[in-house]
Amino acid sequence: MNVVVVGAQWGDEGKGKLIDILSQDVDITVRYQGGNNAGHTVVVKDKEYVFHLLPSAILHKGKVCVIGNGVVIDPKALIEEIEGLEKRGLKVLVKRFKISGFCHIVMPYHRILDGLRESKRKNRIGTTGRGIGPCYADKVARCGIRMVDLLNPNLLRSKLEDNLAEKNETFEKVYDTKGFSFNKIYKEYLEYGKRLAPYVENTALYLNEAIDKKKTILFEGAQGTFLDIDFGTYPFVTSSNSIVGGVCCGSGVSPTKIHKAIACVKAYTTRVGEGPFPTEFTTELKDEIRIKGNEFGATTGRPRRCGWFDSMLVRYSVIINGISELAIMKLDVLDDLDKIQICTGYKYNGKLLKTFPMDFEVLTKAVPSYETLPGWQSTTCGITRYKDLPVNARKYIKRLEELLKVGVKYISNGTKRDQIIKR
Ligand code: IMP
Repeated sequence: MNVVVVGAQWGDEGKGKLIDILSQDVDITVRYQGGNNAGHTVVVKDKEYVFHLLPSAILHKGKVCVIGNGVVIDPKALIEEIEGLEKRGLKVLVKRFKISGFCHIVMPYHRILDGLRESKRKNRIGTTGRGIGPCYADKVARCGIRMVDLLNPNLLRSKLEDNLAEKNETFEKVYDTKGFSFNKIYKEYLEYGKRLAPYVENTALYLNEAIDKKKTILFEGAQGTFLDIDFGTYPFVTSSNSIVGGVCCGSGVSPTKIHKAIACVKAYTTRVGEGPFPTEFTTELKDEIRIKGNEFGATTGRPRRCGWFDSMLVRYSVIINGISELAIMKLDVLDDLDKIQICTGYKYNGKLLKTFPMDFEVLTKAVPSYETLPGWQSTTCGITRYKDLPVNARKYIKRLEELLKVGVKYISNGTKRDQIIKR
């Protein structure tokens, strides 16, 4: 069975933990989009690991991890991640880790351009500053540099010369800053190519052959549905397809070979960066939940914006991603509340909206309608059987299932690997 795990909100739903658990039972785990803007945290026996590019399944001995062609790679960041793991005693073996030669490379000018573009915008996106948007923009503009190009000195030279001629002119004339020197980048990126070469191959062929041999695959989404370039809250999104549909283009595996999609959702909602967020807390709850849930970005450390669970938003995700199972993460963060609200719809100009709005202005001005449920005010942390959850916690989950029209299979109630209920 080949399964996809995606985030159904704005990212940071806790996918890292679920993927860490599910990847124990599959042969191969694949990243298919995004770059080191992502941050997946996994806690194993009091040791915390934060992954930005490596699939978190790298922690399981004997399992294979793949970075698919849809991912953009900052080679310096990837090498640091590999070396960081090796320092902690985990060797990243070539037979266990594969990188697609088609991955586009984040270059130093992408990172700088990311910051400069943000500084000029009237409406800042609040990017992670990792150069992700400019790198994907070059991919689509057909001037990007790919992993396989780092292994070919002549091709790299010619592509880099072309890119710098254009980029340096932009830096100087549009942004009034100095451009980049060819030699420094050329040498540095050839070295990265040499270091990563043993891992590089045509991973699309590798994955399809593995499927033919009845190996099982878990596809690990980064970010979340509402950061998707097509279906997210554009323009406050990332530059890739983070929805289930992104798997096919980002890995070379056909939709006919994917069997199930699981969505990860937080028991509430968070968002990092700018953009509309209808159920965002305006009361002191925003600090309370942020502190209890440790809601600070795993990549940038920025405080996350927090709010109530939005079923209008997540139901849309369920539809777009064809979700058949839900994982509710961080239920324990709500343990102390006496009342819990769920957004069941939006009103705009006094009228109830039937579907998730396409118009940015409507979404920005939408007023959420809430249903209030009693809290459970006791700890759920560490409970392993669904029936042992407080009755009001079960009522909350049941109501979410009704609103979202899909069943909840996993309930996470703590940061550790074993703090999860499987139904
Ligand atoms: P970019 O992907 O760095 O271009 O940032 C675009 C938007 O996506 C910003 O609002 C970021 O905060 C958000 N974003 C990117 N990656 C993540 C993530 O892994 N979790 C949550 N938000 C993210």
